[in-house]
Amino acid sequence: MITIAFFDAKPYEKLYFDRINETYGFAIRYLDVRLNEETAQLAKGAAAVCAFVNDRIDAGAAAELEKCGIRLIALRCAGYNNVDLRAVWGKIHVVRVPAYSPHAIAEHAVALLFCLTRSLHKAYNRVREGNFLLHGLAGRDLYGKTAGIVGTGKIGKITAEILRGVGMRILVNDTFPDTAWASPLGAEYTSLDELCTRADVISLHAPLGPETFHLINEKTLDLMKPGAVIVNTGRGALIDTRALVRALKHQRIGGACLDVYEEEENYFFEDWSGTAMQDDTLARLLTFPNVIITGHQAFLTDEALSAIAQTTLENVSRFFDTGDAPNEICYRCANLDTEKCRRTRGKGCF
Ligand code: NAI
Repeated sequence: MITIAFFDAKPYEKLYFDRINETYGFAIRYLDVRLNEETAQLAKGAAAVCAFVNDRIDAGAAAELEKCGIRLIALRCAGYNNVDLRAVWGKIHVVRVPAYSPHAIAEHAVALLFCLTRSLHKAYNRVREGNFLLHGLAGRDLYGKTAGIVGTGKIGKITAEILRGVGMRILVNDTFPDTAWASPLGAEYTSLDELCTRADVISLHAPLGPETFHLINEKTLDLMKPGAVIVNTGRGALIDTRALVRALKHQRIGGACLDVYEEEENYFFEDWSGTAMQDDTLARLLTFPNVIITGHQAFLTDEALSAIAQTTLENVSRFFDTGDAPNEICYRCANLDTEKCRRTRGKGCF
């Protein structure tokens, strides 16, 4: 029987994996700890590890996993910026869940935006305390304003379509424009600088990589309108958070809705409510009335969790049954050098 060492397991995930595993019959060893160089040895005896966004698979962890005889890293997420693909190349195959519910993420991005622009976070607390004053709750219509979507992949496109539905003008930016999709929507591809200059709302949906690291920085923040709202459900390091804090402090932008945070691996997915926060940047962000933070929960819908469990276990099953790895990612295919990858012939990358 194939054993999967399942790192950083949370109760809400176990429910879905256990249910779907009734069909597959893997031995799933749930581990509370995150995967990194120090914890990788806990995978001993397993053939595969299952990892999530804040598990860190760097060269050290990869070497330890190889020593344990791990043949497959099954990411139960879409992003793979936490894996050193070059370090694992030729040793351990890496598969992911390229899409589970792009609607879940897009809808969360829009929910955060509506919440901020209509001060729902303040109104909720006020009414719970019996305070029905409206003072300070005035919002802004989104109708007629301009949304800038960075990254028009699966999630960015749905976000653009939802925001078009409320009557926003849509600007988009992508390294690979999809004009066949954009034209009927009336979406206009433009440079990142122009998007930042013209948009009232900027929503980030590009993957994190060397080219997109700190895409939103001092320079791009300076281009933005004073009332611009930034929404980030992509990855934390798409934004230079210290520059964002400065822009918020000096009221150079209108607000921020964040589901992800640059240093989130130290805090997210755990309860720190009884301790003093050590991360001064996160603590400062939480002081702004025009900042809403959720703890990387955009994916957390029934549909998305089912799809994640289904695709992850199917990835593992196909790899061990047939050597097939359709959702494999390696540093070559990540850099679009797919010709060198055997994946294009329907088998694993190496
Ligand atoms: P996708 O691969 O369908 O789309 C990404 C798009 O970004 C592509 O069109 C690509 O060409 C574009 N892109 C790449 N580099 C760019 C650049 N420098 N500038 C502008 N555009 C660029 O990915 P999908 O499924 O839409 O997901 C996007 C990201 O959302 C993921 O990479 C992941 O980091 C994040 N995500 C967050 C979740 C959450 O729970 N908060 C859950 C799932 C994904």
